[in-house]
Amino acid sequence: MPSPGSANATFDFRAPLRLSGRLTLPGRAVLSPLQGVMTRTFMQAAARLDLIPLWFTPFFSTGGVSVPKRAAILRKLAPYCLRPDLPLVFQLIGRDARSLAATAAGFAEYGVHGINLNFACPSKTVTASGNGAYLLRSPETLFELTHAVREAISPDVSVSVKLRAGWDSPGSIREIVRAVCDAGADWIVFHYRTATEAYRPVDASERVRRIACAAESAGGVPVFGNGDVVDCAGAEALVRATGCAGVAVGRGFLSDPWLVRRILSGDRNPASEAEKKEFLRLLIAGTDSTKRGRNWFLECVKMTYGAESAEFREARESAWDALRARWS
Ligand SMILES: Cc1cc2nc3c(=O)[nH]c(=O)nc-3n(C[C@H](O)[C@H](O)[C@H](O)COP(=O)(O)O)c2cc1C
Repeated sequence: MPSPGSANATFDFRAPLRLSGRLTLPGRAVLSPLQGVMTRTFMQAAARLDLIPLWFTPFFSTGGVSVPKRAAILRKLAPYCLRPDLPLVFQLIGRDARSLAATAAGFAEYGVHGINLNFACPSKTVTASGNGAYLLRSPETLFELTHAVREAISPDVSVSVKLRAGWDSPGSIREIVRAVCDAGADWIVFHYRTATEAYRPVDASERVRRIACAAESAGGVPVFGNGDVVDCAGAEALVRATGCAGVAVGRGFLSDPWLVRRILSGDRNPASEAEKKEFLRLLIAGTDSTKRGRNWFLECVKMTYGAESAEFREARESAWDALRARWS
Protein backbone atom coordinates (compact mmCIF):
# COMPACT_ATOMS: atom_id res chain seq x y z
CA MET A 1 0.00 0.00 0.00
CA PRO A 2 1.27 3.48 -0.68
CA SER A 3 1.73 5.70 2.32
CA PRO A 4 -0.21 8.99 2.42
CA GLY A 5 1.22 11.46 -0.03
CA SER A 6 3.62 9.07 -1.76
CA ALA A 7 3.21 10.49 -5.23
CA ASN A 8 5.03 7.80 -7.21
CA ALA A 9 3.66 4.70 -5.53
CA THR A 10 1.57 2.40 -7.68
CA PHE A 11 -1.65 0.94 -6.41
CA ASP A 12 -3.05 -2.34 -7.62
CA PHE A 13 -6.84 -2.23 -7.44
CA ARG A 14 -6.91 -5.81 -8.68
CA ALA A 15 -5.17 -7.22 -5.60
CA PRO A 16 -7.62 -9.44 -3.68
CA LEU A 17 -8.04 -8.66 -0.01
CA ARG A 18 -8.40 -11.53 2.43
CA LEU A 19 -10.77 -10.77 5.32
CA SER A 20 -12.12 -13.11 7.99
CA GLY A 21 -12.89 -16.72 7.25
CA ARG A 22 -14.39 -17.30 3.83
CA LEU A 23 -14.48 -13.70 2.60
CA THR A 24 -11.91 -12.46 0.15
CA LEU A 25 -12.72 -9.17 -1.55
CA PRO A 26 -11.93 -9.81 -5.21
CA GLY A 27 -10.35 -6.35 -5.58
CA ARG A 28 -9.95 -2.90 -4.07
CA ALA A 29 -13.12 -1.28 -5.42
CA VAL A 30 -16.70 -2.13 -4.49
CA LEU A 31 -20.16 -0.79 -5.19
CA SER A 32 -21.36 0.96 -2.03
CA PRO A 33 -24.95 0.14 -0.98
CA LEU A 34 -27.73 2.33 -2.39
CA GLN A 35 -31.06 1.75 -0.66
CA GLY A 36 -34.03 2.31 -2.97
CA VAL A 37 -31.82 2.26 -6.06
CA MET A 38 -30.60 -1.33 -5.72
CA THR A 39 -33.86 -3.02 -6.50
CA ARG A 40 -33.90 -6.62 -7.66
CA THR A 41 -33.95 -5.30 -11.24
CA PHE A 42 -30.92 -3.10 -10.63
CA MET A 43 -28.96 -5.92 -9.03
CA GLN A 44 -29.83 -8.34 -11.78
CA ALA A 45 -28.77 -5.88 -14.48
CA ALA A 46 -25.48 -5.23 -12.69
CA ALA A 47 -24.83 -8.93 -12.27
CA ARG A 48 -25.82 -9.80 -15.84
CA LEU A 49 -23.37 -7.25 -17.23
CA ASP A 50 -20.73 -8.38 -14.72
CA LEU A 51 -20.37 -4.87 -13.30
CA ILE A 52 -19.72 -5.77 -9.66
CA PRO A 53 -17.14 -8.00 -8.00
CA LEU A 54 -19.27 -8.70 -4.92
CA TRP A 55 -22.77 -8.15 -3.58
CA PHE A 56 -22.83 -5.43 -0.92
CA THR A 57 -26.48 -5.04 -0.01
CA PRO A 58 -28.45 -2.00 1.13
CA PHE A 59 -29.42 -2.08 4.79
CA PHE A 60 -31.94 -4.45 6.27
CA SER A 61 -33.51 -3.03 9.39
CA THR A 62 -33.50 -5.29 12.43
CA GLY A 63 -36.44 -3.22 13.66
CA GLY A 64 -36.58 -3.37 17.45
CA VAL A 65 -35.96 -6.74 18.97
CA SER A 66 -37.73 -9.21 16.67
CA VAL A 67 -35.57 -11.56 14.62
CA PRO A 68 -36.67 -12.29 11.04
CA LYS A 69 -38.22 -15.64 10.26
CA ARG A 70 -36.55 -18.11 7.90
CA ALA A 71 -38.90 -17.19 5.05
CA ALA A 72 -38.06 -13.49 5.39
CA ILE A 73 -34.34 -14.24 5.35
CA LEU A 74 -34.66 -16.38 2.23
CA ARG A 75 -36.78 -13.74 0.51
CA LYS A 76 -34.11 -11.11 1.20
CA LEU A 77 -31.32 -13.35 -0.07
CA ALA A 78 -33.13 -14.54 -3.22
CA PRO A 79 -31.98 -11.74 -5.59
CA TYR A 80 -28.36 -12.57 -4.92
CA CYS A 81 -28.75 -16.18 -5.99
CA LEU A 82 -28.53 -14.97 -9.59
CA ARG A 83 -24.76 -14.92 -9.19
CA PRO A 84 -23.90 -17.28 -6.34
CA ASP A 85 -20.26 -17.03 -7.43
CA LEU A 86 -20.04 -13.44 -6.09
CA PRO A 87 -19.27 -13.06 -2.38
CA LEU A 88 -22.20 -11.60 -0.45
CA VAL A 89 -21.88 -8.94 2.26
CA PHE A 90 -25.25 -8.33 3.87
CA GLN A 91 -25.83 -5.02 5.62
CA LEU A 92 -27.86 -4.65 8.83
CA ILE A 93 -29.00 -1.53 10.63
CA GLY A 94 -30.15 -1.48 14.23
CA ARG A 95 -29.31 -0.28 17.71
CA ASP A 96 -30.22 -3.24 19.87
CA ALA A 97 -27.24 -5.54 20.40
CA ARG A 98 -29.27 -8.69 21.01
CA SER A 99 -31.45 -8.18 17.98
CA LEU A 100 -28.53 -7.29 15.69
CA ALA A 101 -26.60 -10.33 16.90
CA ALA A 102 -29.51 -12.72 16.44
CA THR A 103 -30.35 -11.33 13.00
CA ALA A 104 -26.72 -11.52 11.92
CA ALA A 105 -26.63 -15.13 13.11
CA GLY A 106 -29.80 -15.84 11.10
CA PHE A 107 -28.28 -14.51 7.87
CA ALA A 108 -24.89 -16.09 8.57
CA GLU A 109 -26.58 -19.47 8.78
CA TYR A 110 -27.74 -19.11 5.19
CA GLY A 111 -24.25 -18.66 3.85
CA VAL A 112 -23.56 -14.92 3.59
CA HIS A 113 -19.83 -14.23 3.50
CA GLY A 114 -20.00 -11.08 5.57
CA ILE A 115 -22.23 -8.97 7.78
CA ASN A 116 -21.83 -5.20 7.51
CA LEU A 117 -23.21 -2.91 10.20
CA ASN A 118 -24.55 0.43 9.04
CA PHE A 119 -23.40 3.22 11.38
CA ALA A 120 -23.52 5.75 8.58
CA CYS A 121 -27.05 6.42 7.37
CA PRO A 122 -27.86 10.11 8.02
CA SER A 123 -31.51 9.96 6.96
CA LYS A 124 -33.83 11.61 9.49
CA THR A 125 -36.18 8.64 9.59
CA VAL A 126 -33.27 6.39 10.51
CA THR A 127 -31.45 8.66 12.99
CA ALA A 128 -34.66 9.82 14.72
CA SER A 129 -35.02 6.29 16.07
CA GLY A 130 -31.40 6.21 17.22
CA ASN A 131 -30.11 4.10 14.32
CA GLY A 132 -27.48 4.51 11.60
CA ALA A 133 -25.23 7.55 11.94
CA TYR A 134 -26.87 8.54 15.25
CA LEU A 135 -24.77 5.81 16.87
CA LEU A 136 -21.54 7.64 15.93
CA ARG A 137 -22.22 9.83 18.95
CA SER A 138 -21.13 6.97 21.19
CA PRO A 139 -17.98 4.96 20.36
CA GLU A 140 -18.85 2.73 23.36
CA THR A 141 -22.12 1.74 21.71
CA LEU A 142 -20.36 1.09 18.40
CA PHE A 143 -18.03 -1.24 20.28
CA GLU A 144 -20.90 -3.00 22.04
CA LEU A 145 -22.92 -3.59 18.84
CA THR A 146 -19.97 -4.69 16.72
CA HIS A 147 -18.69 -6.97 19.47
CA ALA A 148 -22.13 -8.54 19.98
CA VAL A 149 -22.36 -9.40 16.28
CA ARG A 150 -18.76 -10.67 16.13
CA GLU A 151 -19.44 -12.97 19.09
CA ALA A 152 -22.72 -14.24 17.67
CA ILE A 153 -21.50 -15.56 14.34
CA SER A 154 -18.92 -18.01 13.13
CA PRO A 155 -15.35 -16.74 12.60
CA ASP A 156 -15.89 -17.88 9.01
CA VAL A 157 -18.09 -14.85 8.44
CA SER A 158 -16.61 -11.36 8.15
CA VAL A 159 -17.93 -8.51 10.30
CA SER A 160 -17.43 -5.08 8.78
CA VAL A 161 -18.86 -1.63 9.36
CA LYS A 162 -19.91 1.38 7.34
CA LEU A 163 -18.99 4.66 9.04
CA ARG A 164 -19.22 8.38 8.53
CA ALA A 165 -16.67 10.78 10.04
CA GLY A 166 -18.88 11.56 13.03
CA TRP A 167 -22.30 12.89 13.96
CA ASP A 168 -21.84 16.66 13.79
CA SER A 169 -18.06 16.96 13.99
CA PRO A 170 -15.12 14.96 12.59
CA GLY A 171 -13.30 15.32 15.92
CA SER A 172 -13.76 11.69 17.03
CA ILE A 173 -12.68 9.74 13.95
CA ARG A 174 -9.92 8.00 15.87
CA GLU A 175 -12.20 6.92 18.74
CA ILE A 176 -14.92 5.74 16.37
CA VAL A 177 -12.52 3.72 14.23
CA ARG A 178 -10.69 2.26 17.21
CA ALA A 179 -13.97 1.21 18.83
CA VAL A 180 -15.06 -0.90 15.86
CA CYS A 181 -11.57 -2.32 15.27
CA ASP A 182 -11.21 -3.29 18.94
CA ALA A 183 -14.61 -4.98 18.72
CA GLY A 184 -13.43 -7.20 15.87
CA ALA A 185 -14.44 -5.46 12.64
CA ASP A 186 -12.22 -6.72 9.83
CA TRP A 187 -13.10 -4.14 7.14
CA ILE A 188 -14.31 -0.55 7.25
CA VAL A 189 -16.06 1.48 4.59
CA PHE A 190 -15.62 5.12 5.56
CA HIS A 191 -17.71 7.95 4.09
CA TYR A 192 -15.74 11.11 4.84
CA ARG A 193 -18.67 13.42 5.69
CA THR A 194 -20.28 13.72 9.10
CA ALA A 195 -23.98 12.87 9.40
CA THR A 196 -25.04 16.48 9.68
CA GLU A 197 -23.04 17.35 6.54
CA ALA A 198 -25.34 14.94 4.72
CA TYR A 199 -24.15 15.23 1.08
CA ARG A 200 -22.97 18.85 1.16
CA PRO A 201 -19.58 19.77 -0.29
CA VAL A 202 -16.61 19.53 2.06
CA ASP A 203 -13.19 20.94 1.26
CA ALA A 204 -11.05 18.47 -0.73
CA SER A 205 -8.12 18.67 1.69
CA GLU A 206 -10.46 17.96 4.60
CA ARG A 207 -11.80 14.91 2.76
CA VAL A 208 -8.24 13.58 2.42
CA ARG A 209 -7.42 14.41 6.04
CA ARG A 210 -10.44 12.55 7.40
CA ILE A 211 -9.97 9.41 5.29
CA ALA A 212 -6.23 9.35 6.04
CA CYS A 213 -7.02 9.67 9.76
CA ALA A 214 -9.46 6.74 9.56
CA ALA A 215 -6.96 4.60 7.63
CA GLU A 216 -4.17 5.37 10.07
CA SER A 217 -6.34 4.86 13.17
CA ALA A 218 -7.48 1.46 11.93
CA GLY A 219 -3.97 0.00 12.21
CA GLY A 220 -3.98 -3.12 10.08
CA VAL A 221 -7.74 -3.17 9.45
CA PRO A 222 -8.38 -2.18 5.83
CA VAL A 223 -10.35 1.03 5.29
CA PHE A 224 -12.08 1.71 1.97
CA GLY A 225 -12.47 5.43 1.34
CA ASN A 226 -15.91 6.53 0.24
CA GLY A 227 -17.49 9.71 -1.05
CA ASP A 228 -17.42 11.39 -4.45
CA VAL A 229 -15.33 8.85 -6.32
CA VAL A 230 -16.66 9.37 -9.84
CA ASP A 231 -13.83 8.21 -12.09
CA CYS A 232 -10.68 6.07 -12.16
CA ALA A 233 -8.34 9.00 -11.71
CA GLY A 234 -10.26 10.08 -8.60
CA ALA A 235 -10.06 6.56 -7.16
CA GLU A 236 -6.34 6.43 -7.67
CA ALA A 237 -5.78 9.93 -6.28
CA LEU A 238 -7.75 9.04 -3.18
CA VAL A 239 -5.80 5.90 -2.28
CA ARG A 240 -2.50 7.65 -2.98
CA ALA A 241 -3.34 10.67 -0.87
CA THR A 242 -4.88 8.85 2.08
CA GLY A 243 -3.25 5.42 2.29
CA CYS A 244 -6.69 3.79 2.33
CA ALA A 245 -6.90 0.18 1.16
CA GLY A 246 -9.48 0.70 -1.57
CA VAL A 247 -12.56 2.65 -2.57
CA ALA A 248 -16.32 2.23 -2.36
CA VAL A 249 -18.25 3.86 -5.19
CA GLY A 250 -21.86 4.96 -4.66
CA ARG A 251 -23.50 7.56 -6.88
CA GLY A 252 -20.63 7.48 -9.39
CA PHE A 253 -21.86 4.03 -10.42
CA LEU A 254 -25.11 5.53 -11.60
CA SER A 255 -23.51 7.88 -14.08
CA ASP A 256 -21.04 5.17 -15.11
CA PRO A 257 -22.23 1.65 -14.30
CA TRP A 258 -18.90 0.32 -15.55
CA LEU A 259 -16.96 2.42 -13.03
CA VAL A 260 -16.17 -0.28 -10.48
CA ARG A 261 -15.02 -2.63 -13.23
CA ARG A 262 -12.93 0.13 -14.79
CA ILE A 263 -11.23 0.99 -11.51
CA LEU A 264 -10.48 -2.69 -10.99
CA SER A 265 -9.05 -3.14 -14.48
CA GLY A 266 -7.29 0.22 -14.84
CA ASP A 267 -9.32 1.15 -17.94
CA ARG A 268 -9.62 4.92 -17.65
CA ASN A 269 -12.16 5.56 -20.42
CA PRO A 270 -15.47 7.03 -19.25
CA ALA A 271 -18.67 5.13 -19.98
CA SER A 272 -19.69 5.28 -23.62
CA GLU A 273 -23.19 6.23 -24.68
CA ALA A 274 -23.80 2.62 -25.72
CA GLU A 275 -22.75 1.32 -22.30
CA LYS A 276 -25.01 3.74 -20.42
CA LYS A 277 -27.92 2.75 -22.64
CA GLU A 278 -27.22 -0.94 -22.26
CA PHE A 279 -27.60 -0.70 -18.50
CA LEU A 280 -30.74 1.47 -18.70
CA ARG A 281 -32.19 -0.93 -21.27
CA LEU A 282 -31.86 -3.83 -18.84
CA LEU A 283 -33.31 -1.68 -16.05
CA ILE A 284 -36.42 -0.71 -17.96
CA ALA A 285 -36.95 -4.26 -19.20
CA GLY A 286 -37.28 -5.37 -15.59
CA THR A 287 -39.22 -2.35 -14.30
CA ASP A 288 -42.97 -2.56 -13.83
CA SER A 289 -45.24 0.17 -15.18
CA THR A 290 -46.62 1.26 -11.80
CA LYS A 291 -46.11 4.88 -10.77
CA ARG A 292 -43.41 3.76 -8.37
CA GLY A 293 -41.61 1.72 -11.03
CA ARG A 294 -41.75 4.62 -13.47
CA ASN A 295 -40.42 7.08 -10.88
CA TRP A 296 -37.61 4.75 -9.99
CA PHE A 297 -36.58 4.40 -13.62
CA LEU A 298 -36.74 8.20 -14.11
CA GLU A 299 -34.45 8.59 -11.11
CA CYS A 300 -31.98 6.24 -12.78
CA VAL A 301 -32.08 8.30 -16.01
CA LYS A 302 -31.60 11.45 -13.96
CA MET A 303 -28.57 10.05 -12.16
CA THR A 304 -27.09 8.74 -15.42
CA TYR A 305 -27.49 11.91 -17.48
CA GLY A 306 -28.09 14.67 -14.91
CA ALA A 307 -31.17 16.65 -13.88
CA GLU A 308 -30.64 19.25 -16.62
CA SER A 309 -30.09 16.78 -19.45
CA ALA A 310 -32.26 16.45 -22.54
CA GLU A 311 -32.45 12.70 -21.86
CA PHE A 312 -34.02 13.27 -18.45
CA ARG A 313 -36.36 15.99 -19.68
CA GLU A 314 -37.61 13.81 -22.52
CA ALA A 315 -37.96 10.80 -20.27
CA ARG A 316 -39.99 12.79 -17.73
CA GLU A 317 -42.36 14.02 -20.38
CA SER A 318 -42.93 10.58 -21.92
CA ALA A 319 -45.80 8.30 -21.07
CA TRP A 320 -44.81 4.84 -19.92
CA ASP A 321 -45.12 3.16 -23.34
CA ALA A 322 -43.06 5.87 -25.02
CA LEU A 323 -40.52 5.69 -22.24
CA ARG A 324 -40.18 1.97 -22.66
CA ALA A 325 -39.99 2.24 -26.45
CA ARG A 326 -37.24 4.84 -26.19
CA TRP A 327 -35.02 2.90 -23.81
CA SER A 328 -35.70 -0.74 -24.69
C1 LIG B 1 -30.03 6.77 -2.61
C2 LIG B 1 -28.95 6.34 -1.67
C3 LIG B 1 -29.14 5.22 -0.87
C4 LIG B 1 -28.14 4.80 0.02
N1 LIG B 1 -28.33 3.67 0.76
C5 LIG B 1 -27.33 3.20 1.57
C6 LIG B 1 -27.46 1.98 2.30
O1 LIG B 1 -28.46 1.26 2.24
N2 LIG B 1 -26.43 1.61 3.08
C7 LIG B 1 -25.26 2.35 3.17
O2 LIG B 1 -24.34 1.95 3.87
N3 LIG B 1 -25.12 3.49 2.50
C8 LIG B 1 -26.11 3.93 1.68
N4 LIG B 1 -25.94 5.08 0.97
C9 LIG B 1 -24.65 5.80 1.04
C10 LIG B 1 -23.71 5.37 -0.10
O3 LIG B 1 -23.42 3.98 -0.04
C11 LIG B 1 -22.41 6.14 -0.07
O4 LIG B 1 -21.79 5.93 1.16
C12 LIG B 1 -22.63 7.64 -0.22
O5 LIG B 1 -23.52 7.91 -1.28
C13 LIG B 1 -21.30 8.37 -0.51
O6 LIG B 1 -20.64 7.80 -1.60
P1 LIG B 1 -20.76 8.42 -3.09
O7 LIG B 1 -20.35 9.87 -3.00
O8 LIG B 1 -19.82 7.59 -3.91
O9 LIG B 1 -22.19 8.29 -3.51
C14 LIG B 1 -26.94 5.53 0.11
C15 LIG B 1 -26.76 6.68 -0.68
C16 LIG B 1 -27.75 7.08 -1.57
C17 LIG B 1 -27.50 8.31 -2.42
